[in-house]
Amino acid sequence: MNEPKSLLIRDGRIIDPAQGLDETASLVITEGKIAWLGRGDPPRTDSEVIDGRGLVVTPGFIDLHCHLRQPGFEEKETIASGSRAAAAGGFTTICGMPNTEPPLDSPETISYVKRTAAREAVVRVLPIGCISQGRKGERLVDMKALVNAGAIAFSDDGSPVPGADLMLKALEVSRSLEVPIIDHCEDTSLSEGGVMNEGALAHRLKLKGIPAAAEESIIARDLALAEETGGHIHIAHVSTAGGVKLIRRAKERGVRATAEVTPHHLTLTEERVAGYDTSAKVNPPLRTKVDTQALLEGLKDGTIDIIATDHAPHTEAEKSREFALAPFGISGLETALGSLMGLVHSGNLNLTILIAKLTTEPARIIGGRYGELGTLKIGAPAEITIFDPDMERVVDPQAFASKGKNTPLAGSKLKGKVVATIAGGRLVYRHSSLKITKAAAERTELTR
Ligand code: DOR
Ligand code: ZN
Repeated sequence: MNEPKSLLIRDGRIIDPAQGLDETASLVITEGKIAWLGRGDPPRTDSEVIDGRGLVVTPGFIDLHCHLRQPGFEEKETIASGSRAAAAGGFTTICGMPNTEPPLDSPETISYVKRTAAREAVVRVLPIGCISQGRKGERLVDMKALVNAGAIAFSDDGSPVPGADLMLKALEVSRSLEVPIIDHCEDTSLSEGGVMNEGALAHRLKLKGIPAAAEESIIARDLALAEETGGHIHIAHVSTAGGVKLIRRAKERGVRATAEVTPHHLTLTEERVAGYDTSAKVNPPLRTKVDTQALLEGLKDGTIDIIATDHAPHTEAEKSREFALAPFGISGLETALGSLMGLVHSGNLNLTILIAKLTTEPARIIGGRYGELGTLKIGAPAEITIFDPDMERVVDPQAFASKGKNTPLAGSKLKGKVVATIAGGRLVYRHSSLKITKAAAERTELTR
């Protein structure tokens, strides 16, 4: 009677890159852990059952880069609403950037995020600490104290680290702490006042451009500093073909570098801003077809390790300002899988690689501190995403769990939809189409 509840996911296509697994099989969750995985009949339990036929079952997605806005900008998003958006998008672990108010530059603010998340979030929230005090780019935070409080990485994201000397110090300290330094690579002396990709289109629209060199020059600097110090640099939201090339060469030399690309930089180009659509205004800006192709190549050959959403919610009032004045950012948690599945359906990306970039690879960057993340190995915490690869939907931002309705995909048709998300052994998101039956009923049905 008081038996622990268990859940059986039967006959789904289970993909777990960490175990080299891609097969139709079943999986049992008991007491918040993966208890059994295999073909054929699972052990008898008093389970609820999800019929996995036609569905893909993977480790819960991990987002190394999103903006949860709390403390300070709760009108844009909260830890609670951001976590529900994550669950709806299939993410069971999300890492929050520290450009909040106050910024996450002290053990107290890191603890505040952890406490609030423990109380209100439906998925695991891991905070990222600032590199510089107050995000001012001047003095290094007490990195050790922040790691002890729970910071899993450091970044001044939203802004670059302007001085090479500060970046050098951060990389040096990070080495002994075993955490990555994540940089938003932008030379602001080149990008100042820019609102979109620099090029012919920017000239035609009479908007100030952000050149590729603003990103590439800082990527080159950071890679040199990582090489010098042996520290781990993680390049956030790579958007240019030149950036991919620099990272590829550095990795060949053995530099300790990892990199991420967002779903929007992989799938959208600058043409999206042609109608002065502020929902496509993002930093770094959407670039060109040459860039999206290079990013995809980089993703496939391992130059780019992971996909991260850079979920950046803003209010409708802010995004209603004229193009030059609206804030940068795209609300991305709830459209990530659907837009990325577009690349799979068109034959441009292998599904297993896509899943690895959302699970195994980000888990590797975060490290082992939080138990075994990003895998469905027996004994691992039950963090599972179930999606229908073929379900179509028209994106309706008003139906988002996120407070951020700012997406250039509003009204677009996406194919591939998360139908269930299990985090910490609990079903934290369920699409209306998903049927869950009691095992007893299922047994009767099977013997009929
Ligand atoms: O588009 C962006 N939005 N890029 C950033 O660097 C910051 C982010 C935000 O915080 O809104
Ligand atoms: Zn960001």
